Formats: sequence, C-alpha cells, structure tokens
Amino acid sequence: MSENNIPRRAKVLVVGGGGREHAIVDALSRSSRVEKIYCAPGNAGIARQAKCVPLEDTQIDELADFAGQEGIDLTVVGPEVSLAAGIVDEFESRGLKIFGPSKAAARIESSKEFAKDLMGRYGIPTAGYRAFDDYRKASEYVRSRPLPAVLKYDGLAAGKGVVIARTMEEADAALRDMLLDDKFGKGRVVVEDFLTGPEFSFMCFVSGRKVLPMVLAQDHKRAFDGDEGPNTGGMGAYSPLPFITPEDEAFALEKVMQRTADALCDEGCPFTGVLYGGLMKTPQGIRVIEFNARFGDPETEVVLPRLKSDIYDIFSAVADGRDPGEAEWHDFATLGIVLASKGYPGSYEKGYEITGTEQVDGVVYHMGTAIKEGRLVTSGGRVMIVVCRSADPEQARCRALEEVRKIGCENLFYRSDIGMKALSFLVKK
Ligand code: AMP
Ligand code: GLY
Repeated sequence: MSENNIPRRAKVLVVGGGGREHAIVDALSRSSRVEKIYCAPGNAGIARQAKCVPLEDTQIDELADFAGQEGIDLTVVGPEVSLAAGIVDEFESRGLKIFGPSKAAARIESSKEFAKDLMGRYGIPTAGYRAFDDYRKASEYVRSRPLPAVLKYDGLAAGKGVVIARTMEEADAALRDMLLDDKFGKGRVVVEDFLTGPEFSFMCFVSGRKVLPMVLAQDHKRAFDGDEGPNTGGMGAYSPLPFITPEDEAFALEKVMQRTADALCDEGCPFTGVLYGGLMKTPQGIRVIEFNARFGDPETEVVLPRLKSDIYDIFSAVADGRDPGEAEWHDFATLGIVLASKGYPGSYEKGYEITGTEQVDGVVYHMGTAIKEGRLVTSGGRVMIVVCRSADPEQARCRALEEVRKIGCENLFYRSDIGMKALSFLVKK
C-alpha cells in the first residue's frame, strides 16, 4: 500500500453496461494505477477492455459479495438505478470503497421536489415551481398560468417523466397520467415555469464541499435532426461549447455547483461522486433545469476523452472523502454521434449484425451491443456512439459524420446535425 491507502495497482469494478460505462472503463484503462478492470454487466465493446461480470446493476447484494470476494479496491457506479437502490450505502456498510453518492444525497436526482426545495432554500437559480399530489389542484394551477406548461413527475421515470404541454388538453392528459392513473407509480408532480435558451451539461466531481469541474458538454435529447421527434436518452454530444463564456462557467461553478455541494453538506447528506447540472443559458442568466447524481450519457463519452489527469486518482480521492485537487484537460474538441435502433425510443428489434467498427478512425463506445454466434449484434435502443476529436467542434463534427458512415447495420439510424448549434453560433458571431 502507498500513501492514502491507495494500492499500487488496483482492481476496479465499474457498475453498468452502456456507453457511459464504456467511456469510464476506457479512461480507467489509461490509468497507471489500475491493474484490472471488471464491469457488471458490461457489453460487447466493454468486454474488449474489461472482464464482464454477469450481474445486473440492481443486484446490489450480489455486486457487494463479488467486490468483497474478488478484493476489489474501488467500485465506480454508472447508472442512477443503482444509486437510488442504495448501492453506495450497502457497499459502505460492508467497508467496501465505492465512488458515488449515498441514497440520501442521490435524492438530488431521484426526487424533483427535494431538488427544487433545496434550490429554493439555498438561492440556487432555477425555474419557479409548485408541487402537487392532488389532480384537481394541479389542474387549476396549470389553468391559471400561461402555456406551455412544464410538468415533472417526482421520481425516476427513465427520462419520460417530463412533459412540456403546449395546449391545455396535453397538460390535462399528462396530469391524469401522473396523478389519477399513477402511470409511473404513486407520486407528486412539480409544475415549473417554462424557460428558454440553450441547454448544457456541467458535470463536477464532488467530495463534500470540494468541487472539481469537468469540461462542458451539450447533449441532443430529441430523436431526429432539427430537434424533432420524441425525447431520448441522448443522441449525441460535443465538448467544448462555444456559446458559454468563461463568466457563464464561473457563475455556474460558484452559484450552482458549489452552492449545491455546500447545501447538501448543510442538510446532513454530503455528496460524493459526480454531480451533473443540466443547465440552461436563459436571457435572465444561467438556471438549473435538473440535477443528476451521476455521469451523463452521452456527455461522459465526449468529456472523459478530454481528461488528461489520471481518473483513478480522482475517483479514489472522492470515494475516500478527500480533496481530488485539480484536473488537467486536453484542448482538442470531441464530438460523438449515437447510432440507435430504428424505432427507438419506442419499441425496436434487436439482434441485427453490426460491421465496420474496426474501420472507424476515432473511438467507438458501445451502448447496447452483444455477441451472438461470434457476430457483433444490436441489443439495445442506443447501440453505439462514434466519438471523434479535432482542433475545434466543427472539424470534429465533419470527422464524426464521415466515420459514422463506416458502421454497417440495416437497423440503425443517427442524427446528422450533432454540434450544429455550436456552429451556427460561430457563424453568427
Ligand atoms: P429534465 O428531465 O428535467 O431534464 O427535462 C427534460 C427536458 O425538458 C430538458 O432537457 C428541457 O429541454 C425540458 N425542460 C425541462 N424543464 C424545463 C423548463 N422549466 N423550461 C423549459 N424546458 C424545460
Ligand atoms: N444525457 C442526459 C442524462 O444523462 O441524463
């Protein structure tokens, strides 16, 4: 053992099996501190860089048993479901080192009302809101206000719990689903003011009151070009963001991320892990749209390739409750385009063969792939992301568009306008 109880060559377990976890595994594989990486459950791409363990991200007891038996030095948690199920509390109760927030701190993501209430009490800028559990009262309130109405189900709803209703009929149908028919379970609804402006993702490593910012990224949530179609888990991302000034970034760091880390400490549930601010640059200034208690997906796939520092040291410091210090970042831009199964985010078929990944001049992170009879096949909604780097987002965009075409599969689609927002800003300037 060396200083700070860090073993010289560590065994690390990554929990999850998507593109985010592939990017985490990839970053860990660049660490001089890491000897062996396990990933549960992983996927076909991750299997090339880590030993996949056939355990699901919600099998908390089994994951802890595995970490104990294998002598895992550090576990890193990807998905929110594992956090909300209390994986960190369970590991810590067994004396196992883990990177991620406790169940109490993860409420910043799992409960919209907890997050809004905290922001209200600590002066963290966000949209005005009211919370309801009664359908009639919620409906009356929405009727008394201008459209569009922003309705958020209070709980984890896999990205489907937010409705931006442009008509009263749409608002009423959503309130019925959420409060009368309990479509997502018994819960409450937060009704928010509608804000406008470009959105961006600010992820920070947080260890109690210590906040180590990552470079900014922008996700593309709608399924089709021009921000058309339904909301998805994210169809592409890029970093850095030309429309965010250093002043914006400093404001977001001090008045949003640092304040939130301090607020969670003051509330008796200090945050350790990645705090993700989903922020909007509105005409009135930066506002919080949502917080997540984990790395974003696909933002992680474009942010971590830009990290120059050793990620194991950061994970380890945060998991110990120590100050992770500063991080160094590469200057190049990254841009990633997601390939998704036709039909996603609705129903889709699996098992289509994928070819050409080895021809790609860039990084291919797997999101939903499997090996069947020796062939690489689709096994999820979002299947893979092609990430290219270049001197600026425009060049990275051109390269990623060229590279993504090398992937052959009859059942995949992708957006061809990832990063266009950054470009139109550059053109306008
Ligand atoms: P959320 O799950 O809270 O991030 O919401 C999903 C998406 O809905 C966001 O990425 C925004 O595009 C949109 N949205 C959420 N809240 C608001 C709001 N108050 N005003 C305008 N758009 C919003
Ligand atoms: N990309 C948005 C999220 O991870 O929630």
